[in-house]
Amino acid sequence: MTFRSPTGAEDLLPERAAAFRRIEAAVRDVCERFGYREIRTPIFEYTELFERGVGETTDIVEKEMFTIPPRSEDGEASLSLRPEMTAPTARALIEHNLHKARPFNKLYYIGPAFRRERPQKGRLRQFSQFGVEAFGSDDPRLDAETIQVLAEVLRAAGVKRTEIRLNSIGCGVCRAAYRDALKARVKADLAAYCPNCAKRFERNPFRIFDCKQEKCRAISANLPPIADALCEACRGHFAEVRRSLQAAGLDHTLDGRLVRGLDYYTKTVYEFTSDDLGAQNAVGGGGRYDGLVAELGGPAMGAVGFAAGIERIALLLGDGAAAPAACDFYVVVIRPEDRGEAFKLASRLRTEGFAGDLDYEGKSVKAQMRSANAAGARHVVVLGPDEWARGEVKVKAMATGAETAVKAEALVAALRGRSA
Ligand code: HAM
Repeated sequence: MTFRSPTGAEDLLPERAAAFRRIEAAVRDVCERFGYREIRTPIFEYTELFERGVGETTDIVEKEMFTIPPRSEDGEASLSLRPEMTAPTARALIEHNLHKARPFNKLYYIGPAFRRERPQKGRLRQFSQFGVEAFGSDDPRLDAETIQVLAEVLRAAGVKRTEIRLNSIGCGVCRAAYRDALKARVKADLAAYCPNCAKRFERNPFRIFDCKQEKCRAISANLPPIADALCEACRGHFAEVRRSLQAAGLDHTLDGRLVRGLDYYTKTVYEFTSDDLGAQNAVGGGGRYDGLVAELGGPAMGAVGFAAGIERIALLLGDGAAAPAACDFYVVVIRPEDRGEAFKLASRLRTEGFAGDLDYEGKSVKAQMRSANAAGARHVVVLGPDEWARGEVKVKAMATGAETAVKAEALVAALRGRSA
């Protein structure tokens, strides 16, 4: 019997892990350049956090969470693997009073998230997200900044051609008025929608814009977009977001039907999409969520952020060959009985900070040389009986082929001199 990784959970083999690491390096570099500080929260939280934060009627909470039921023995409440990191980050902000130490906080994160979805290209059950969350400001320029962060990460990682889709779904006031108008308008046509839409409509009428079914999309296409129903303040906010995006040189498309699948959003929402991804075309998405911190028991404060999927970015980049790790030396032994001495040499070089390797498979001299070549070693240190009898090794510079005899105790200095 053999085992496979669980459905929707993948192993990152070394080549792919290297590709992920390059993307993560771009994330860290860009986020820190923009003044965001890293936060790491647990991969599981009390289930109620997501029910309250993400919303009980969302697909994520209703159908997709990996939940560990409560245990009656110790009274521990239900736990869930995090399906996203916005609610956990807001929870941590409140729990640790970060907003009291600084009224304005800019945070970023990278890590795994979990959703029990039907796996397909670009959709996994364990996937890697990075994102930023900025807490404590209503400034529309901050919305634009978060969009610029994602655009810059994608550029730094080497992603070409993504589209930025933008919408505003209004504040509590204009959203409520629009919701009533929408309900009144759709009620008559409800029978024509799919059963899923009909079911969700009562609880969250905006979800009908999210439905992927053609017939639902066709009916919804005739509905007035929420952008037309925005109050004065929300309209002003949205106009400033757009001006700031222009100022940052970021083209975007207005998408009046973009509502996003999480309940916490207010005002600005956005998604970065790519036609090269297929059905799961969202590289990242986010928006403003001015009510979330208060909803989770903290003070009222403006907040905005996004998250993006590393697997999807890796898909866009393709399987580019990973750059091989640097290799300063490879120790080759002529006689098998000198392998202990070779180990000693290699261990000393490594503790001195050199990168390199030696043979553990009992290979012939020729095969050891092939390994040195394959590793891209800059120097081969040959431990041969004649030199060794004089306390020396032969160092071959692979770039030039030049060979020199070096005293064993002078090897570190010799390699250091050559690599300088
Ligand atoms: P989201 O749109 O649910 O937003 O997820 C963000 C990104 O995570 C998606 O655009 C996609 O790239 C990736 N993603 C989501 N689910 C999967 C999956 N099953 N497999 C692979 N990748 C996936 C959020 O999570 C919000 N917390 C974003 C946010 C932050 N809003 C404000 N701040």
